[in-house]
Amino acid sequence: MQRPETEVVDCDVLVVGGGMAGCGASYETAYWAKQHGLKAVVVDKAAMERSGAVAMGLSAINCYMGMKHGENTPEDFVRYVRNDLMGISREDLVYDIARHVDSSVHMFEEWGLPFFKTPEGRYVREGRWQVMIHGESYKPIVAEAAKAAIGEENIYQRVFVSHLLKDKRDANRVAGAVGFSTRDNKIYVFKARAVVCACGGATNVWRPHAVGEGLGRIWYSVFNTGSVYKLMINAGAEMTSMEHRLVQTRFKDGYGPVGMWFLLFKSVIKNAFGERYDETRDDELENWLPYGRKMPVPTPLRNHQMLLDIKAGKGPHYMRTDEALQKLYAGQTVEKIRQIESEAWEDFLDMTMSQALLWASHNIDPAETPSEVYLTEPYLMGSHATGCGAWVSGPEDVSPKEYQWGYNRMTTVNGLFAAGDGVGASGHKFSSGSFAEGRIAGKSAVDYIVDQAQAPQIDEAEIEGIKTGIWHPLEHFEKHRGSSTREDLNPNYLMPKMALIRLQKLMDEYVGGPGAYYMTNGPLLNRGMELLDGFKEDLGNLGARDLHDLLRCWEVWDRTMSAECHIQHVKFREETRWPGYYYNADHPELDDENWKCFVNSRRDPATGEWEMSKKPYIPACD
Ligand code: FAD
Ligand code: ADX
Repeated sequence: MQRPETEVVDCDVLVVGGGMAGCGASYETAYWAKQHGLKAVVVDKAAMERSGAVAMGLSAINCYMGMKHGENTPEDFVRYVRNDLMGISREDLVYDIARHVDSSVHMFEEWGLPFFKTPEGRYVREGRWQVMIHGESYKPIVAEAAKAAIGEENIYQRVFVSHLLKDKRDANRVAGAVGFSTRDNKIYVFKARAVVCACGGATNVWRPHAVGEGLGRIWYSVFNTGSVYKLMINAGAEMTSMEHRLVQTRFKDGYGPVGMWFLLFKSVIKNAFGERYDETRDDELENWLPYGRKMPVPTPLRNHQMLLDIKAGKGPHYMRTDEALQKLYAGQTVEKIRQIESEAWEDFLDMTMSQALLWASHNIDPAETPSEVYLTEPYLMGSHATGCGAWVSGPEDVSPKEYQWGYNRMTTVNGLFAAGDGVGASGHKFSSGSFAEGRIAGKSAVDYIVDQAQAPQIDEAEIEGIKTGIWHPLEHFEKHRGSSTREDLNPNYLMPKMALIRLQKLMDEYVGGPGAYYMTNGPLLNRGMELLDGFKEDLGNLGARDLHDLLRCWEVWDRTMSAECHIQHVKFREETRWPGYYYNADHPELDDENWKCFVNSRRDPATGEWEMSKKPYIPACD
């Protein structure tokens, strides 16, 4: 493998990640950058047209207020999110998303995204916050608009960003990023005055249910490997709520989402004995007051009731699609029945095709046969019913002083902004809210640059060190490949897939994975951390045969740093706040008196030491 050539890209705003948040950031930054004669650039490790969690398409937009028809107010949304996240969220950020999200959704429609409409021309509601779309082409439509706005010449695709750069004179200011091409022997150095970090959440950190031939079949995007967290952690940014992982109820093996079945079709889940665990285990909600008795029942508590049922040996559990559809079909015309049937299939064909394929291959007609559901492996993300991400400054006009230190969505590192899964403690933004948040962050990044007298300075020696490090797995492999008869088995190096499997095993066994029924405790976490430290040493011996392997190597580093941060947070929070997501056996109960607050962390980039702290929860409304 030849040494790579280097391309230096000079810009003002760099958007890392071209997913929903990255498209929002690109779209908005392009507009404001033009007003100030600045250059905005977006970089994605894939092709934006089909990258990230919306690659396959979606069948709903899960965050839409409907303010123009007086359906909901931002305060209503804040109260909903507050309860679903078990009391703690950065309500200033949640409010900010709520007040801005509708205009982004209206733009999606203008750009050609087809919505389900009522005869009066209103969006069809799936639930109070969700609207239905024919969304197979959601991502190409949004990406087309973002790409047109920022300009073809400012788009770098198939470039994996592995490091952020800091200002030579100010260790707490960002100066750009470094990445490598996944197609050519090329390293890119992006010199920037501000960076918007928008590269998705972290999946495959825990051992998934599907291993071997099914490896890679999970719910959230396999392409989201935790870059957003690793980049910001390594830059010394303060993180929040990294313990607040997500576990989901999903159709088994195909990972079909459940929202439409619950909310639109009014379906229920029953166990193998025909019982509804939400009814038989209703009393359990009393143990999680005040959140357990507010409707809708928070996502983790719904999981928790099901998990109790699973552990009691009551599985398999079934989504009673048969009962729900038969009820809806009763007394309807053939035409109406066909319409309902087609909506049921389209829900999956638009966003989780594998579920529709699984139905077909298992001879399942959802109107006749129920489908198994189960709980997923955990994901680290910030845009769903969950809270992982950076601790960011909130909007000036809403945030209390504890949450406001600069530009909206700026992290604690100057010039480093975050959006989507990258922003913590403000869940339920989903695709539309992530896009809206990208717009907010992009606009602020331009404001920040305009206010700075001096540009940051790059440390050339630092860049050389990073470049050598990026390429190391390729050179290490080349050096040792002859010392065994098989390229993938060698005493001198570790292939990225082996490393990934080892990380997943560790996380499953010690850090509350599905194999441990999501249970952990202090000693398990300490042992897990010891093993993770040893694992990190071994990662210095990763080997890569080609650029694809190199990508996989750096993705393992993403997941490892995300995992380490998660362990620190779970250890620090001495309670169980989100049963059904994870349980701390040392502290099995909710403790509002001591822990109704955020857990924040900062890893010192120089020493690797973690500093943990509590931050106050301040409500935005009653
Ligand atoms: P993403 O949209 O995932 O974007 C991340 C981007 O970063 C990608 O383009 C990726 O290629 C890029 N990237 C990653 N690492 C790097 C790197 N190192 N360097 C450069 N680029 C990088 N939301 C809804 O509103 N409605 C729904 O019905 C819905 N259903 C869903 C169903 C499924 C199956 C899934 C997976 C998600 C669903 N969501 C839904 C959630 C929604 O997709 C996410 O909330 C949203 O996409 C998060 O936006 P993001 O920009 O943070 O991440
Ligand atoms: S998706 O992101 O993959 O679409 P899912 O289908 O679970 O996830 O959820 C879609 C929306 O419905 C989300 O807003 C989620 O919070 C909500 N939802 C799912 N199940 C329920 C339920 N039983 N009660 C209330 N809201 C629900």
